[in-house]
Amino acid sequence: MKNPFQFGRELGAGSLVDRKEEVAAVKRAIRDGNKLFLVGPRRFGKTSILKTATDELAGESGIVIRLDVESFSSVDELVARIISVSARALEGDLRRVGEQIRRVFSRIKPELNYSVADGEWTVKFGVDPERVTSPVLIADALNGFEKLARMQPQDRPVGLILDEFQRLIELGGRELEGQIRAAIQTHSRTGYVFAGSKTRMLHDMVMDRTRPFYRLGTNIFLQPVPRGDFEVFLKKQFSETGITVEISAVDLIMDLAEDVPFNIQQLAHQCWTDLKESNKSGSQALSDNVVLSSLEVLVRQQDPFYAQIWNSLTAIQQRTLRAVMMEKGANMQSLRVVRSVGSGAPTVRQALISMSSMTILREDQTAHHKLYRFEDPFFASWIRLTTGR
Ligand SMILES: Nc1ncnc2c1ncn2[C@@H]1O[C@H](COP(=O)(O)OP(=O)(O)OP(=O)(O)O)[C@@H](O)[C@H]1O
Ligand SMILES: [Mg+2]
Repeated sequence: MKNPFQFGRELGAGSLVDRKEEVAAVKRAIRDGNKLFLVGPRRFGKTSILKTATDELAGESGIVIRLDVESFSSVDELVARIISVSARALEGDLRRVGEQIRRVFSRIKPELNYSVADGEWTVKFGVDPERVTSPVLIADALNGFEKLARMQPQDRPVGLILDEFQRLIELGGRELEGQIRAAIQTHSRTGYVFAGSKTRMLHDMVMDRTRPFYRLGTNIFLQPVPRGDFEVFLKKQFSETGITVEISAVDLIMDLAEDVPFNIQQLAHQCWTDLKESNKSGSQALSDNVVLSSLEVLVRQQDPFYAQIWNSLTAIQQRTLRAVMMEKGANMQSLRVVRSVGSGAPTVRQALISMSSMTILREDQTAHHKLYRFEDPFFASWIRLTTGR
């Protein structure tokens, strides 16, 4: 019997809990030629939303290109991929496709080759020092893509989805931000979706009126999946595979995972494995005790990884993390909390900032008061287990 809980890979339609509105918003932005920013913490399901929307639009014969910018080491590489994937999306004989691509991307002068063995286009372009600086190159690529979009029948959705989009700015600097805006604000046929998890950075990019992306499109700040929906999903998956469920245990999974979808699935996966392995023939019941012992198994498995992070932290940072656990991330600048860390307020603030940039903590932007949360709630469980507090 297959474990019904999946984590660590992008999910598609059919395996996602909830997220219907977000998927619909992505599809709408692409169909209408709009711009959408989808910003959310790590492992909240951004990529899965993008994948589901892309798959559904592909069913409507759309040309939707979805790229993970993190996987490129330069803007040039990304531009080459935009061109080669565009070529792949076009129909018709190879010669015609090649001509069409060379025409719409004429400013880049791409050299295109088609490998019959791989069924793939490869793209190269010469670097013209007069013209090609990365920011201009990406603007030319986006303008070319818009030309291509305009050549498509009206009812054919055309979109470009850039996941982990903040990486572009890391690769190309602030200048690139301005160039992208200048290009895409004139586009009305291509739908753009930009997604990312560096919430602080992206929040500033779209909410700061001095930045190029301010008010460029619609912003969605992704929230956790509603608890009730995840509860129904968990109960159904357990019971359909012969496991009876105590309701408090399902709640406990979500509490320990702090509602992060990845962690919920990971813990449920472990509980399922442990129940199936420990009690092959007898009755299998998910109780609070099972959840707690499965969490321990999971956290111990990752001991080397968590130990490495913990040992790389300064004593102040470690104490600050403990305070985050004690206080559930609230009032971290209060006198009481600062005293409990045994340091001054500026030092604690600095520890919080540096651990946020190390993606150990994240600021919860949605709360009325600023909360600090663990990016990986199971790291907090590891600290509790191994340091005995
Ligand atoms: N709506 C959902 N329903 C069920 N599980 C989900 C959902 N969203 C996310 N998950 C779980 O979280 C995992 C990670 O999802 P995904 O990769 O889409 O998140 P992400 O926000 O793109 O993460 P990252 O920040 O690492 O890029 C999935 O493999 C799945 O286990
Ligand atoms: Mg992702």
